[in-house]
Order: sequence, then C-alpha cells, then structure tokens
Amino acid sequence: MSNAVLALQDVSRHYRGKGGLLRKGDTLRAVDGVDVTLAPGETLGIVGESGSGKSTLGRLAAGIEPPSAGNVTFKGKPYAPIGSSAWRRQRRDVQVVFQNPSQALDPRLSIADQIRGAMEAHRLDTGKSGAGSLDALLARVGLEGLGRRYPHQLSGGQLQRAVIARALSLSPDVIVCDEAVSALDVSVQAQILNLLQDLQAEFSVAYLFISHDLGVVRHVSHRIAVMQHGRIVEAGPAGDVFASPRNSYTKALIAALPAASPSARRARDAKRRLDFAKV
Ligand SMILES: Nc1ncnc2c1ncn2[C@@H]1O[C@H](COP(=O)(O)OP(=O)(O)OP(=O)(O)O)[C@@H](O)[C@H]1O
Ligand SMILES: [Mg+2]
Repeated sequence: MSNAVLALQDVSRHYRGKGGLLRKGDTLRAVDGVDVTLAPGETLGIVGESGSGKSTLGRLAAGIEPPSAGNVTFKGKPYAPIGSSAWRRQRRDVQVVFQNPSQALDPRLSIADQIRGAMEAHRLDTGKSGAGSLDALLARVGLEGLGRRYPHQLSGGQLQRAVIARALSLSPDVIVCDEAVSALDVSVQAQILNLLQDLQAEFSVAYLFISHDLGVVRHVSHRIAVMQHGRIVEAGPAGDVFASPRNSYTKALIAALPAASPSARRARDAKRRLDFAKV
C-alpha cells in the first residue's frame, strides 16, 4: 500500500537464548517474516494467543525495538537509529498505549503536568494540544476538571483516558495500543473503545490495536491480522475474517470467543436468563 503511514516488510525479530527457559544458543523467532501495512486513520487489529508475538510486533512497529531482519518504514522512511534526534521526533508521531496506565504515568505529577511535560519534551506549545487547550483536551477524553489530580486519585479507566490524552497531545499519526483495555472492567472497556473510535474519527489517527481478546478487536478494527508463532496466518477485512475464517487457528480462536467477548457474554447471559424464566 503506497499511502501506508506504517509498513513492515518481511520483518523478523529473533531473540537468542541466554540460558534458562531458552537454552543458550537457541533462537526464538518472536516475529518471523511479517508483512503489515497501516493506512492513515485506519485500525488494524492484531490478535493471537499469548506468546504469538503481538507485543513484539507492536514494539517493532513503534520503532522502540529494531528488527533482526526486514524493513519497518514510517511514512515511507526507515526509523532513524534508536536514540537519535530524528528518532525522538518519530517517537512523537507514533505513540504507544500499554495495558497498565498506572505504570505509564508518574505518581508524583498531576495529570496536567504529565501532559505538559510530554509536550515540552517535544518542544510543543503547551497551550495548543492536538485538541486545542489542555483543558479542552482533558474534556475531550472525559477528564474535565481533573487535570490537577494525581494518578492515585483516578480510577483505572480515568488513568487510561489520561494516557490517551497525553498521547493525543503530541498529535501522533499512529497509536500502538497493546492490550490497552485488557486490565479494565468490561463496561469501562466499552467506554474506552468508544472513546478511541471517536478520537480516530476526529483526529484521523491510525491504530495498531493489539489484543488477545477477539471480541474487543472485532469491535474496533477495520482489518484484522491473526498471529501464530510469530507469523501472520490470516489477514483481511474484519467482517470477512469473522464471517468466513479460512485458517483453522483463526476458526479455533473464534470458536473460543463466546467466553471471551463482552457482547457475546452479555448475549449468552441474557439467553440464560430467558431459559431460566421459561422453567
Ligand atoms: N526481550 C525478549 N527477550 C527474549 N524473548 C522475548 C522477549 N520479548 C518477547 N520474547 C518472547 O517472544 C515471544 C513473543 O512474545 P510477545 O510478548 O510478543 O507475545 P504476545 O503475543 O504479546 O503475548 P501476550 O498475549 O502474552 O502478551 C514469547 O515467546 C516471548 O517469551
Ligand atoms: Mg503481549
């Protein structure tokens, strides 16, 4: 895809064993010859079981880890060497949101100060975040009037909103979301997913949306790539992958879905209540 904002071409990441679980000299192919493109403003969902290489792929895509082989390009150019000033600029354009927001935030700083700090680090005018003023940005993510709070004074969902606001304040082209809602209650998950979708519509940011939860990925993704043992075993428009999975591993993931997906769980529980009422 020529207009891709992010492209991975035949990218691999291998880890060498240093003893322990992975024996010395053994090579683990965490990501193994993967091709992925992300168009501006689209959401590509990455699913797969634990250990299939999703987070490694996310770090490669975000440029915070170099590939062992293959090319990662952002807006058509390879990432600059890690630590260089050009690389720091690219760090601004590709943000990452991880599972645990309390670890991503500094407990000693108010939410507003952390966002200001991130903007200052990138020499941005703190009066003008991606969404206008800092207050406007906080309001936009549902944290109106909470900028002076410290992380311990916010709920898990509010903390993730703060992390999203900080990412957004840098006007990124891409946000890599690695299990961004996995630690949250189901009802809060839905709110954050809706927020991410609204922000995408407004700011046309692209998401590489990584989750082990197929139900969550289905909710937000335009396209889906399924990973197994470091490879992409199936990819396509989200509707197609769910309606007619071609790969047996994908079929198994989807078959396991009723227990994992919030919406399917609600449907199942509602049906159970109905069945119970009939007795
Ligand atoms: N820095 C590292 N050094 C050595 N091995 C690693 C490293 N990072 C990841 N791995 C290994 O690479 C494989 C893929 O890990 P990765 O974290 O990418 O999987 P994942 O799909 O994100 O799993 P999960 O769903 O549990 O988060 C695993 O076998 C993991 O142990
Ligand atoms: Mg992971």
